[in-house]
Amino acid sequence: MKEAYRAPVPYVPLPARLAVFLSGRGSNFEALAEACRTGELPARIVAVVSDRPEAPGLGTAERLGLRAVAVDRRRFPSREAHEAAMAEAVVAHEADLICLAGFMRILSPPFVDRFRLKILNIHPALLPSFPGKDAQAQAISYGVKVTGVTVHFVDSGMDTGPIVAQEAVSVAEGEDCAALSARLLRVEHRLYRSSLRKVLEGGWVLTERSVAFSD
Ligand code: GRF
Repeated sequence: MKEAYRAPVPYVPLPARLAVFLSGRGSNFEALAEACRTGELPARIVAVVSDRPEAPGLGTAERLGLRAVAVDRRRFPSREAHEAAMAEAVVAHEADLICLAGFMRILSPPFVDRFRLKILNIHPALLPSFPGKDAQAQAISYGVKVTGVTVHFVDSGMDTGPIVAQEAVSVAEGEDCAALSARLLRVEHRLYRSSLRKVLEGGWVLTERSVAFSD
């Protein structure tokens, strides 16, 4: 008998309290913030946390009146100390779930274990193809005809956690990386919202690596 984890209904108390981790532009964060604002997502963003104080997404958070927290990696002597400070920001804001949105660091086992099945990520490829950086460029240079977007739970590997949702996107003949990235990004914004909603609603089952939602 395979051991299964059955998520409660709802998965966390609603409206859920979200922490968003980002390192850059923050367009996925903005899409989540908008979905919280309109009520499409039964959630609110309680903290936007960045390892890079100069990340444009932090400025956006401030403009939206959200709590922006810079936890500058350069100010910490080790990865452990840095992650402990990131965890402190999550706990201090009583976040139920962490959404990685262009967060460019691998989280280590102590952090991931502490927030097991409470961290989601979005990746611009159909995992396990093209993990890591520049997934769109990897797909173009491999010459694939189809790539896509993946939302997954985070483990301590590089884009290796259990898959929550995927959507395929065809690569057009001769399409360059910028054009493909822009098309993928529109799918990312939609898929992150819809799959996060399904996770929050609960009732899904994780068996080994496989996440099953009952419709
Ligand atoms: C997105 O393509 C996301 O999938 C990847 O990093 C990019 C971040 O973009 N993990 P943004 O900062 O959300 O605009």
